[in-house]
Amino acid sequence: MVDADGHNVATKRAMIRPAEGQGDGNAADRMTIPFNKPYLTGREGEYITDALARGHLSGDGNYTRRCQAWLETRTGAAKVLLTHSCTAALEMAAMLADIGPGDEVILPSYTFVSTANAFVLRGAVPVFVDIRPDTLNLDESRIEAAVTPRTRAIVPVHYAGVGCDMDPIMAIAERHGLIVIEDAAQGLMATYRGRGLGSIGHLGTLSFHETKNIISGEGGALLINDPALAHRAEIIREKGTNRSAFFRGAVDKYTWVDLGSSYLPAEIVAAFLWAQLEEAEAITRRRLDIWSHYHGRLEAAERAGLLRRPVVPEGCGHNAHMYYLLLADLGRRTRFIASLKQQDIQATFHYVPLDSAPMGRRAGRAAGDLTHTRDLADRLVRLPLWAGLEPHQQRVAAAIDTALAGLDAGSADTTAMGLT
Ligand SMILES: Cc1ncc(COP(=O)(O)O)c(C=O)c1O
Repeated sequence: MVDADGHNVATKRAMIRPAEGQGDGNAADRMTIPFNKPYLTGREGEYITDALARGHLSGDGNYTRRCQAWLETRTGAAKVLLTHSCTAALEMAAMLADIGPGDEVILPSYTFVSTANAFVLRGAVPVFVDIRPDTLNLDESRIEAAVTPRTRAIVPVHYAGVGCDMDPIMAIAERHGLIVIEDAAQGLMATYRGRGLGSIGHLGTLSFHETKNIISGEGGALLINDPALAHRAEIIREKGTNRSAFFRGAVDKYTWVDLGSSYLPAEIVAAFLWAQLEEAEAITRRRLDIWSHYHGRLEAAERAGLLRRPVVPEGCGHNAHMYYLLLADLGRRTRFIASLKQQDIQATFHYVPLDSAPMGRRAGRAAGDLTHTRDLADRLVRLPLWAGLEPHQQRVAAAIDTALAGLDAGSADTTAMGLT
């Protein structure tokens, strides 16, 4: 069973180490193909053992510093701080942006709860704006109409590791004096006009949850692109104290100086992450190959009007975080997922739009209609995509053919799919 965010509930713990099954498709060919399978590079244990031997077990040790430096180089962010999760990084971003009661924050409704929750925790009102039908990202052309005197921030979410159109978003933010916090939970190794996702806004956030491309079980990072925010970010991450400055020798004792919480991951988590970052290029290449295989194999079905494939706009270098399809309607999606399940392949839908969720209705409001949000949320299905899927791809593709053949293609509404 797979939950709405793709967390593999039933087989999640049946993780296969590289030597046991990530290369060989023969014996395992009738196994259930999970939606997600966390990939291990094989060096995680070695680095965790080393971290233990070094004796620095809390945060901000050798492995944390290595990971942060790697992420700064790779993304181009001025400063990176590892956190427990992307959720934690978003909460830090909300504090850094001084978001308070009654402030408004513009974001898509089609996103994970944390994108909104981080700001609601500070008393802010999430203002939901519709998404673009091609990328399912925040529709930049609708942002300005949602700005009011209370608006403080825009939070673009790079869905599926495909960049939002950041140039117009940054221009709107500048015109209205707003802060931009990129939710790049799915975006490590992806770019917009050559810039790493998360490094373009004032702040950005990454996730290393086991469902992401590069993982540490739970984990995340805050990208600080506005250097003026860097000092306070350290304080917020260290429970509101100037402890980091103390350890650098910049002050002779540390004390409570600001708002904050405990957002540092332990060194063993950073050691795990280091093993993944070392392989980040190779993991991304494997995922991109799998993504391209799906994309090529499904071209004919798109031309036949059975589905719509993902769109990657020019200027966006994606990271193959996800391969999704848009079917004609909810009924067809339900039958498609059920057919794959019968063939022992897990596929899953994605977000329930936040504006329609009980908490979203209480805490937020929509700006304008959310037509694409509603429509696309009902029709989207995500296919298995993980390093190690390669030997099973023919089987998955054949199962997709069978599932599509079972749909009533004759009445598929291609207008609704954006094919006309
Ligand atoms: C868009 C988005 N934002 C935030 C998060 C939260 O990430 P984490 O699980 O690291 O807190 C996720 C996780 O799925 C996500 O997809």
